[in-house]
Amino acid sequence: MRLDKYLCESTELSRAEAKRLLRGGEVTCNGKVIKTGSFKVPEGAEVRIEGNLLSLRGLRYIMLNKPVDFISSTADDDYPSVLNLLDIDKVSTLHIAGRLDVDTTGLLLITDDGQWSHKLMSPKKVCGKRYRVELADPIQDSAIEAFAKGVELRNEKTVTKPATLEILSPTEVLLTITEGKYHQVKRMFAALGNKVVGLHREQVGQIELDKKLAPGEWRYLTEVEIDSVK
Ligand code: URA
Repeated sequence: MRLDKYLCESTELSRAEAKRLLRGGEVTCNGKVIKTGSFKVPEGAEVRIEGNLLSLRGLRYIMLNKPVDFISSTADDDYPSVLNLLDIDKVSTLHIAGRLDVDTTGLLLITDDGQWSHKLMSPKKVCGKRYRVELADPIQDSAIEAFAKGVELRNEKTVTKPATLEILSPTEVLLTITEGKYHQVKRMFAALGNKVVGLHREQVGQIELDKKLAPGEWRYLTEVEIDSVK
């Protein structure tokens, strides 16, 4: 396929916009800058715009660094939706795979591929979600064992599944959980008599939040990231 056609089919760029990016040297094929639209893209080649890998799947897979005071659903009276941060067409066809609270920051995955998000979120799949947590009070070492065994949350019949706690400082920890109960992380620390004062999701499955993304910024997932969800 011609490179200009590839660019238009894998993005929402018009022919003119694609041409402008090509001329500006923003497009690479297998690591080489290509400026001509008629260039024939070899089978299986990696085409990138400004370093972001493109996909011809026709479906969109996005990571967003969620800022505070945005909600992970459609806007309500108090807060705008994170979808307002995506400056792309047909945002209404996208959905969020795994919501975050309004005051939580970090990795949000957004797609229009329902099967992909189902695989990611299915309770049958063990998918670790790693959070960086700031606590009001110093954490005790005993919390590591408590979370590994599972803790009782208010209004839940079963204890939480084994979770991994890494203590970085008395009030900063990394917690990896494999479930997605309502306000789960906050409730787990509340069960130990502590309080979460800052919560940031760093990783979901194999997909890590890109450190280059400032709060509110997003990028398309790479093929490797998309394919890591099996
Ligand atoms: N657990 C919480 O308590 N809040 C989130 O936003 C995510 C996990």
